[in-house]
Amino acid sequence: MSDLRIAVLGVGMMGADHVARIEARIAGARVSVVNDYVTEKAEQLAATIPGCRAIADPLDAIADAGVDAVILATPGPTHEKQLLACLEYGKPVMCEKPLTTDVATSLEVVKREAELGKRLIQVGFMRRFDQEYAALKALIDNDELGRPLVMHCAHRNPEVPPNFDSSMIVKDSLVHEVDVTRFLFGEEITSVQIIKPAANPNAPEGLQDPQIAIFQTASGKHVDVEVFVTTGVAYEVRTEVVGEKGSAMIGLDVGLLRKSAPGHWGGQITPSFKERFGLAYDVEIQRWVNAVQAGDAGGDYTDGPVAWDGYAAAAVCAAGVASLESGQPVAVDMVSRASIKGA
Ligand SMILES: NC(=O)c1ccc[n+]([C@@H]2O[C@H](COP(=O)([O-])OP(=O)(O)OC[C@H]3O[C@@H](n4cnc5c(N)ncnc54)[C@H](O)[C@@H]3O)[C@@H](O)[C@H]2O)c1
Repeated sequence: MSDLRIAVLGVGMMGADHVARIEARIAGARVSVVNDYVTEKAEQLAATIPGCRAIADPLDAIADAGVDAVILATPGPTHEKQLLACLEYGKPVMCEKPLTTDVATSLEVVKREAELGKRLIQVGFMRRFDQEYAALKALIDNDELGRPLVMHCAHRNPEVPPNFDSSMIVKDSLVHEVDVTRFLFGEEITSVQIIKPAANPNAPEGLQDPQIAIFQTASGKHVDVEVFVTTGVAYEVRTEVVGEKGSAMIGLDVGLLRKSAPGHWGGQITPSFKERFGLAYDVEIQRWVNAVQAGDAGGDYTDGPVAWDGYAAAAVCAAGVASLESGQPVAVDMVSRASIKGA
């Protein structure tokens, strides 16, 4: 089988990382086209990859005959148009989260894909490919914890970019726990409440940080998440599931615990999501490449979260942003999945 020829759109932090990953570690694929709003950035990167071209217009890059599949690592507001172009040209696409930036356009993308009768869109919720999350999911699915009842999560970042506002903590950070909840429990989140503790004095002026999110799921499970993105310390993502027969926790970095200087013991700090989830991105992209290669033989062109998962995440985050304003629990407003054939 010949290598899958991938166009990477947006070669900023995530896109450049995916290009490097495909070139160094992914089997059965190569980057044939790169595109960026800043054309020189794409041209410079293309020059370092044998057989790779820079194409200035993102829609031309998607349509190009030398492109079999697309990775979207452009900013969220551009995703809708670029996803619809991928559907129009029948190109499988791995779209970094978010699917789109609002609920209505996410639903539109879900419907347009469903009309095609084949799944072309995968969404980049990479935690599903992390070994620890996969192990936790297996424990739950094998009934080793009994029926899960409660989940406690912590999501801490040392810092965020200067433009980060309080709603972005919901839409860009908490969104990962939204997907984790849906992935681990296999059901929808039905309401969200955001509680606002005293703000960190070290956070930028006006940023509500930390935030405590409380989700309720369709069967009544409770999830609480502490999101704290200006700790100044480390990247910490912990998840504890409590079931009828026991509990399990991941994200303790126990693999890094060690004895060190005289009189001390401890571990190494995980500085950012790149170190914590680097391997998960590799697995995510390799499995996507394999699924796209197999798709022409009649399978789905996805192996992971699909457009519906992106829509559901958008709907939950919209409820979260509304609760950030009101402080009250807000019901998640979603259409039923069964109402869209093929979603
Ligand atoms: N899965 C994750 O953990 C994770 C982490 C970070 C970012 N992301 C997502 O990845 C995407 C990219 O984020 P990033 O942090 O790499 O951003 P970034 O700003 O570093 O890179 C975005 C790049 O896209 C380019 N660009 C802007 N508009 C464009 C357009 N219309 N067409 C082509 N290129 C365009 C910019 O010039 C820039 O080079 C976002 O959707 C973000 O939410 C996901």
